[in-house]
Amino acid sequence: MSDSLTRNVARSRFGAALAFVLVSTAAWAERVYEPQDPPRELTPEQAARAAENYRQYCVLCHGENREGYANDHAPSLRSASLFESGVPHAILRPLSYGREGTAMGGYLDEIGGPMTLDEVWDLTYWLFWESGAERVRLSEAPVSGDIERGRQVYLDNCAACHGEQGEGVNAPALANPSALAHNKDEFIRYAIEKGRQGTPMAPFSGTLSEADIDNVTAYIRSLAGEEVIGKVELRSLPEPEDYVINPGAPDPEFALKDDRYVLAADLNEAMVSGKRLVLLDTRVVSVWQRAHLAGSVPFPYYSDLEEKVGHLPKDVQIVAYCSCPRAASDYVIDRLGELGFHRTAVLYEGIFGWMNQGFPVVRADVAETRGSE
Ligand code: HEC
Ligand code: HEC
Repeated sequence: MSDSLTRNVARSRFGAALAFVLVSTAAWAERVYEPQDPPRELTPEQAARAAENYRQYCVLCHGENREGYANDHAPSLRSASLFESGVPHAILRPLSYGREGTAMGGYLDEIGGPMTLDEVWDLTYWLFWESGAERVRLSEAPVSGDIERGRQVYLDNCAACHGEQGEGVNAPALANPSALAHNKDEFIRYAIEKGRQGTPMAPFSGTLSEADIDNVTAYIRSLAGEEVIGKVELRSLPEPEDYVINPGAPDPEFALKDDRYVLAADLNEAMVSGKRLVLLDTRVVSVWQRAHLAGSVPFPYYSDLEEKVGHLPKDVQIVAYCSCPRAASDYVIDRLGELGFHRTAVLYEGIFGWMNQGFPVVRADVAETRGSE
C-alpha cells in the first residue's frame, strides 16, 4: 500500500517534471522570426488611388474594411499573419492573376483585367500598410516532414474546413495549383502556426507539435500538381449591336426561383432552342477571357453601370451570371432593377455549377507553357 502510494507520488512528480520539460521546450522551441524591412511607402496620391481601387474592385467579396467573408468565403485581407509573411507573393500574385477554379479572378490588364501593373503593386502595398503588420523574414527552403503522418494530422484537424482533398469547403483551397505555385512552404507553415487573426483559422502552435506542423505542411506541399500557366490570347469584346442573342426569336419563359433565379438546365434549354436573350458576365473581364457562356457580354460588377445600361434593351430577357456563385450577378441585377430593368434573372448555380453539369463554355485559345513560374 505504502509502496503504491510512493509510486503514485513518484509518478505525479515525474508527470510534473515531464510537464515542466514540455512547457519549457515548447517555450524555447517557439520559433523566432527575423524582422524584414518594410516595403516602400505610397505617396498620398497613390494611397488614395489604391483605396479607391479597393472600394471599386474588392469590397464586394472582401468587405468594406478588408475583413473578408462579405461573399464567397473570400479571406480576410487584414490579418497580421498574412501581411507579416506574405508580401508581395501572397497578395500581388492572386490579385494580378487570380486563383483558377475559385471566385478570385485576376485584375491585371495584361490578362484582360482593369488594373495596370503600377496599380496592382500600389494596392498590394496599400493593403500591407493598412494591416499595420511588421514583415518577418521567412526561409525559402522547403519544409520537410513525414507526409503520411501529415495526412493524418490534416484529416484530424483541417479537413472539416479545407476539405478532404484540400479543395476548400468554407476555407481556401489549400491544394489549388495556383496557390501552391506561389505560396512557399514557410508561408504555409507560418499560417498554420499563427493562424489568421480575426478569422476562423486558429493558430495551431499550441495544439500541434512543431514536428506535426512540419508534417502537415509537407503533406499540403505534396498535393501540388504541376501548374500549367497558359498565356491567353485576348479576344476583342463584343460590340453593343451583338449584345442580343437570336434577335428575331421569341423570349424564353423561365419559371424563376424566388422571382429571380434561373436554373442552369433551363438556361441551357433556352440557348439550345435559340431563344432571344442577353447574357451578362458580371465577373472581372480576365476570367471572361478564359471561359464564358457563348454570346455573353462582359458586364463586370465594377463598371459604370449607369453608362453601360445605355446599350441594353429593356424588353429582352436578361440573364446575369458570375462564379461567386451569385454575389456579383445579384449585385448587377439589383442595380439594373433600380435603373428600370425588370425582365432580368440570375443564373442560380453560377458558371462553375454550369460547367459541373456539363454545359458548354467558350474557352480562350491558350498558348500553354508548362511548369510554375
Ligand atoms: C467575387 C469575389 C471576389 C472579389 C471581387 C475579389 N476576391 Fe480576392 N478572393 C476571393 C476568394 C473566394 C478568395 C479565396 C480563393 C481560394 O480559395 O484560394 C480570394 C483570395 C484572395 C487573395 C489571397 C488571400 C490569401 O489569404 O491567400 C488575395 C490577396 C485577394 N483575394 C485579393 C483581392 C483583391 C485585392 C481584390 C480586389 C482587386 C479581390 N481579391 C477581389 C474572392 C474575391
Ligand atoms: C474552423 C475551420 C478551419 C480549420 C479547422 C482549419 N482552417 Fe486553415 N483556414 C481557415 C480559413 C477560414 C482560412 C482563411 C482565413 C483568412 O485569411 O481569412 C484558413 C487559412 C489557412 C491557410 C492560409 C491559406 C492562404 O492562402 O493564405 C493555411 C495554410 C491553412 N489555413 C492551413 C490549415 C491547416 C494545415 C489546418 C489544420 C492543421 C487548418 N488550416 C485548419 C479555416 C480553417
